[in-house]
Formats: sequence, structure tokens, C-alpha cells
Amino acid sequence: MKKFKCFIALDLKSNAQNIGIVKKLYRHVYGFKVGYRSFYNNRSNELISEIKKSKCKLFLDLKLHDIPNTVGSAIDSLSNINPDFLTLHISGGNEMMKAVLNSIKKNKLNTKILGVTLLTSLDGKDSEKIYKERNTGKLVKKFAEIANNLNIHGLICSGDELKVLRKYNKLIKITPGVKMFARNDDQKRVTFAHNALQEGASFVVIGRELIESKKPLYLLKEYGEQNKNKNLWTK
Ligand code: C5P
Repeated sequence: MKKFKCFIALDLKSNAQNIGIVKKLYRHVYGFKVGYRSFYNNRSNELISEIKKSKCKLFLDLKLHDIPNTVGSAIDSLSNINPDFLTLHISGGNEMMKAVLNSIKKNKLNTKILGVTLLTSLDGKDSEKIYKERNTGKLVKKFAEIANNLNIHGLICSGDELKVLRKYNKLIKITPGVKMFARNDDQKRVTFAHNALQEGASFVVIGRELIESKKPLYLLKEYGEQNKNKNLWTK
């Protein structure tokens, strides 16, 4: 069955609410993203089992960033879960990324590692303070180059960065911060999911627009209808 090339971010307050979203949408979407809110919760194992049962992909968005030995052993601890995708910060450095990739191999996991370049919440002023580079596009490219040289499997990138990162055509690109439908209040710099997919994103991440809706399945189907020939679906 064709699936919408999207990860649904399960960021609702309760485990039961997140499980409800999985049950409603699993037939139609490629995967689910479990981030801080739902992972650091004493019942996250129930949510993860539900996702595994659904046969959708599990994306653990833990944005690892620590010394190499610590991140390597974090992978040992995640080996029971064996997520399909896992994030780390590229700014953690080469040795940290190598430790993650080695630990994935050692534990015989299928996990694809995705590098976070620059958080979208940081702007030129922040990046100048932290990295002495005001041009965020340049910085993102530099991080992408480092990750690519280490054979990281993919990148998390905003819709604005897809063009700059086009040359890394072997890397999986996952784009969060996208919308499905236009709304009057936030029109200025919105990337729509179908635009991101047409511009090179392998998958998009959609959260609140669907999970906070009373009719997520209806919205998903409506969106599919409106964008029939726009590369939204897996083959
Ligand atoms: O905004 P929305 O609820 O669709 O966000 C879904 C997910 O995408 C969140 O879990 C967040 O981690 C991620 N996100 C991001 N960068 C943004 C917006 C959202 O990484 N600019």
C-alpha cells in the first residue's frame, strides 16, 4: 500500500492520545516520530510497541550529543528498540558520530542515523555567537559536508535548506516544520509538505496540524486529494 512520505510527530501530552493517533493513521503514513516529550515518559515502551505492531517506521528523535563513549553506550541501551531512524547533533563532532555508527554496527542494528545541522530555532545572530558564522546556509552546508564524509545516512533540514543540500543526493533528507494547508495567520515563510517533497526532501515531519486536529484522517485524505500528482506517496 502507498504511504504518505511523512512521519507524524507524536508530541501529544498523554501516551493514550499518542497511541490513538497511531491507530488512526498507521495505514496511510510512512512512520511516526517519537521525540523528547513522548520518549521521556515512563510508558514510552507501550507507544513504541504500538508503532512496531503497526509496521510503520519508528523515528526516535533523541538528538544525541555527548562524549563518544556515552553516545556509543546509549546505542547499546537502544538496541532492544532498534529504531529505524535516530538523530544526533553533527556539532557533537567526528569522534562522536563514529562512535554512534560503530555501535550501530556492533549491535547489528538497522538504524539509519540522521544528523541535525543547525537547529531551526537559531538565527544568524546565534550562529555568529556560537560558530563565528553569520550565514546559516553556509554553516548548514559545512555540517552536511562533515556528516557526508563520515557516511551518516541522512540529514534533518528545513525547507529553506533543501536547495543548498541538493548535491548530497545519497543522503536521506527529512524536513520538519512544514504545513499541509494554508492558514491566514502564518503565510509568510511557510514550506508546504508537497513543496518540500518536490524540492528534494525524502520525507517530511508533520505534528500539531494533524495530531491536534479532531479529524486527522480526514485532513490527511483531503490533503492527498488536493495534491494528487505531487510525489507525496511511497511507491
Ligand atoms: O510544528 P509541528 O508540530 O508540525 O512539528 C513537528 C515536529 O517537527 C516537532 O516534533 C519538532 O521536533 C520538529 N520541528 C523542527 N523544526 C521546526 C518545527 C518543528 O524540528 N522548525
